[in-house]
Amino acid sequence: MKALILSGGKGTRLRPLTYSGAKQLVPVANRPILFYCIDNIVKAGISDIGIIISPETGQEIKEAIGDGGRWNAKITYILQEAPAGLAHAVKVARPYLKSSPFVMYLGDNLIGRDILKFVGDFTKKKSDALILLKEVENPRQFGVAEITKSGSIIRLIEKPENPPSNLALVGVYIFSPMIHKAIDRIKPSSRGELEITDAIQELILMGRSVKSCILDSWWLDTGKKDDLLTANAIVLDQWGKKNIEGTIDRSSKILGRVTVGGNSIIKSSTIRGPVVIGENTIVENSFVGPHTSIGDDVRIINSSVEHSVIMNGSEVLDIERLDDSLIGRRVRITKNSGHKALRLMLGDDSVMEV
Ligand code: DAU
Repeated sequence: MKALILSGGKGTRLRPLTYSGAKQLVPVANRPILFYCIDNIVKAGISDIGIIISPETGQEIKEAIGDGGRWNAKITYILQEAPAGLAHAVKVARPYLKSSPFVMYLGDNLIGRDILKFVGDFTKKKSDALILLKEVENPRQFGVAEITKSGSIIRLIEKPENPPSNLALVGVYIFSPMIHKAIDRIKPSSRGELEITDAIQELILMGRSVKSCILDSWWLDTGKKDDLLTANAIVLDQWGKKNIEGTIDRSSKILGRVTVGGNSIIKSSTIRGPVVIGENTIVENSFVGPHTSIGDDVRIINSSVEHSVIMNGSEVLDIERLDDSLIGRRVRITKNSGHKALRLMLGDDSVMEV
């Protein structure tokens, strides 16, 4: 069994963070989302992994992951020249996949459990596809399945205007090489993409065996800001640890599961976990509340921060309260005490609520 991670695409929904970087590398609890995908694939016993990359962000992804040695995995990078759809990515990967069955994992999806059981079920039942489904509130934003009472799939539709159910396709699929035949038979959708949902529907029409399982854990498509903050909170709740490598002065209080990386300094501050703080960061005279991830080389001075993600190289200075915020790299947020007016320098597509 091989795995194919889809890490190309454009990431328009997470702009402006993804103007300068790949959305699959946006950190959740200070680790890129893509790392969790690789963890999960390796945990299922798969070590031969292909990663689809785009010309724009491929280099950055290669630098973050390297040759896979960290996971004892063999990584093959596969360039997709344009984001022409998930099924198009599989087509591009065909010379790598050859006739192997494979797990296809979308590089911006996070799920709260391992996939070992699904890989086992797929192999036992000799299916041509196994899909995971999960109830969602907004099915229009996903691929949607219509199923019978006994759980057989009637049909699958990508981002339907009138969803026949609230069961969305999760971004983890398992395929036999039969999927390539189905992909050869489909045409681009109205949004101009070769959809994997259409290819699976084609498998059904070809009379092949397509199984589904309801995912019994949380699932997040991290493409949007609120999903990303939720993912950060859930991952910190579930996997956060107490681990202090930096220096905490005597007047600071560390409560609950808090990670502080090497060379970081916590001075006259309270940190209430779950919180993760990276390396070379300074927190001084401040409060950092639950569900916050602070990257490397950050300065939080005379401020209070909660339920937020603050990425590498940023500064929060003299801010009374910063909540529910997603702050990119090298951002500087300061109080402007001498002026009533806000004085801003925000990049394209920034969002600010005052
Ligand atoms: O998250 C689950 C949903 O993912 C499913 O419910 C949908 O059926 C499925 O089509 C997909 O929808 P999205 O609109 O969320 O897909 P997105 O364009 O965000 O792409 C998902 C990942 O695949 C992302 O990491 C980028 C990558 N990608 C995307 C395209 C279109 C590629 O590598 N190549 C591509 O051509």
